Amino acid sequence: MNMNTDTPPSVSVIGLGAMGSGIARTFIDAGCRVLVWNRSRGKVDALTAAGATGCDTPADAMRANRYVVVCVSDYATWSGIVEEHGLRNQLKGKCVIQLTGGTIDDVCEHEALIKGNDGRIADGAVMCFPQQLGTADASLLMSGDQDVLEECRPLLSMLAPQWTNLGEDITRPTVLSRALTAGILTSFIGFLNGIAMCQKSGISLDTYMEHTEIASAIVPNEKRRLLEAVRDGNTEQTQASLNTWAGAHQTIYSVAATLGTNLVLQDAIKSVLQHGQRMQLGEFDLAAIASVLATEIK
Ligand SMILES: NC(=O)c1ccc[n+]([C@@H]2O[C@H](COP(=O)([O-])OP(=O)(O)OC[C@H]3O[C@@H](n4cnc5c(N)ncnc54)[C@H](OP(=O)(O)O)[C@@H]3O)[C@@H](O)[C@H]2O)c1
Repeated sequence: MNMNTDTPPSVSVIGLGAMGSGIARTFIDAGCRVLVWNRSRGKVDALTAAGATGCDTPADAMRANRYVVVCVSDYATWSGIVEEHGLRNQLKGKCVIQLTGGTIDDVCEHEALIKGNDGRIADGAVMCFPQQLGTADASLLMSGDQDVLEECRPLLSMLAPQWTNLGEDITRPTVLSRALTAGILTSFIGFLNGIAMCQKSGISLDTYMEHTEIASAIVPNEKRRLLEAVRDGNTEQTQASLNTWAGAHQTIYSVAATLGTNLVLQDAIKSVLQHGQRMQLGEFDLAAIASVLATEIK
């Protein structure tokens, strides 16, 4: 059986946490026959009430369908499920759509496991919240053998109409999603650091939010400029050099210290800027920091 028909495919979902349940519900809403397994039975029952068929074991879920989506906490959990339930013997001919977040080693070991047991693998990273699945706001980064991704296209499109095919290198979704998350997380932590500073000084959080929105207006264009400067190797021209930013950061550091806030984030930023200065990049654009961050520190 494959998915080159107009009938919505039948699919199994292993792992019904926040994301796995969202995935299963999205398939149900799209008209698929959905089989589900989860360690805790309560989440299976919630999904069966929504139209899925519950399985007693992950082996049952795997046996029942060619297409199996896996979304559990991490790969150690998945490996435990594979070994505990003897899933190696069930992998032959299966298309495993692996949406668990992991490391580069995890993903490579998993690919070897699936292919070594005559299965087929599509690896992905979900870059949205469960609620956004199936909508235009959903984001799904995928890689794998192109014939597998093509075959899985109908299911992937149900989860994210604009899913991205990153090619055959199985590690790409992991790396890109971690790169994106690093940027988002750093920005959120910076935002929360600002909240701490305002709270210490008595500036209202409404005022902070209002001015965060004003200050953020420049961010998209500035990110694009930084990216183009790095991409084009043009980090010498600048309106605000690394030294200028380092000077500005000294005042941030001083204000944060005077307010008595935790300086751990400012120490990290200071360290990055100082690395750039030690690499003789002080007169260069802030974009030159990309070369600092690309360098392993021994
Ligand atoms: N939630 C999000 O917004 C989001 C967004 C993007 C990516 N992701 C990724 O999606 C994956 C799942 O996240 P989630 O939010 O769904 O996590 P979650 O709500 O914590 O669910 C974790 C899942 O793993 C299962 N599990 C944990 N330990 C297990 C064990 N020892 N044996 C068997 N099953 C076990 C849980 O089963 P029980 O129900 O029995 O505990 C549950 O099905 C993660 O890799 C995460 O990085 C999540």
